[in-house]
Amino acid sequence: MICITMKKEVLVLALSDKENRPVPEHIAIIMDGNGRWAKNRGLPRTAGHKAGGETFRRIANYCRTIGVKYLTVYAFSTENWKRSEEEISGIMGLLERYLTEALRDMEKNAVTFRFFGDLSRLSPKLRKLCEDAQTRSSEFHEVQVNFCLNYGGRDEIIRAAKAFAADVAAGKRTADSLTETDFECYLDSAGVPDPELVIRPSGEMRTSNFLPWQSAYSEFVFMNVLWPDFKPADLDKAIEEYYRRNRRFGGA
Ligand code: FPP
Repeated sequence: MICITMKKEVLVLALSDKENRPVPEHIAIIMDGNGRWAKNRGLPRTAGHKAGGETFRRIANYCRTIGVKYLTVYAFSTENWKRSEEEISGIMGLLERYLTEALRDMEKNAVTFRFFGDLSRLSPKLRKLCEDAQTRSSEFHEVQVNFCLNYGGRDEIIRAAKAFAADVAAGKRTADSLTETDFECYLDSAGVPDPELVIRPSGEMRTSNFLPWQSAYSEFVFMNVLWPDFKPADLDKAIEEYYRRNRRFGGA
């Protein structure tokens, strides 16, 4: 298996940061609170996801404007299959529509798409859209959106362990020589730098199986706003909070 780890570029948040501190290169977001947003308005949960999809578009555009290179979003977890058929097909329908449009506008937008998660359980139509979006966008190198779809961090690690074990059985690797860097090549996120900042809106204070390996040293910012209400100004607040943290990576 070939794994290329991209070189870290230092990006500067020239637009809003007067001190020219580098904007996080990679921001990951748990898009939470769609259901409550809809309930507060007496609307079906699917309306909350539709509004959440619009928020995703706005925030993805904003991330690009301020120079964030990677945006990873939790769109559907391995546990979300427990939801009603209506809700699941609502979310899948939104993703299909979004990816159909993204494929149509691919050259204009030049966004790279990656998909983290086990795509084998998705409908053939959605899986094909994901595969086409990933393949056709791989030539772009400006900004990258990683969708976590049928994603669970533990499931990702188990799949990576199985792939590694298969390579050992095939004589391509030896178990004793395995390093963290080698193992990362088997993860869905191979080649993507770890997120510096993970944001969870909606007031919940847990990580829910989202990027457990990759977020080992991330800064977490939990916010009291429901995802459909999340504005670029909220992202600015999260980045300001990130700047206030003193990242030591285990050092003194
Ligand atoms: C969690 O909120 C959200 C999800 C399980 C789905 C997220 C999906 C989207 C935002 C739409 C994806 C589409 C595009 C185009 C990106 P919740 O339903 O658990 O909210 P609750 O905790 O208030 O019930």
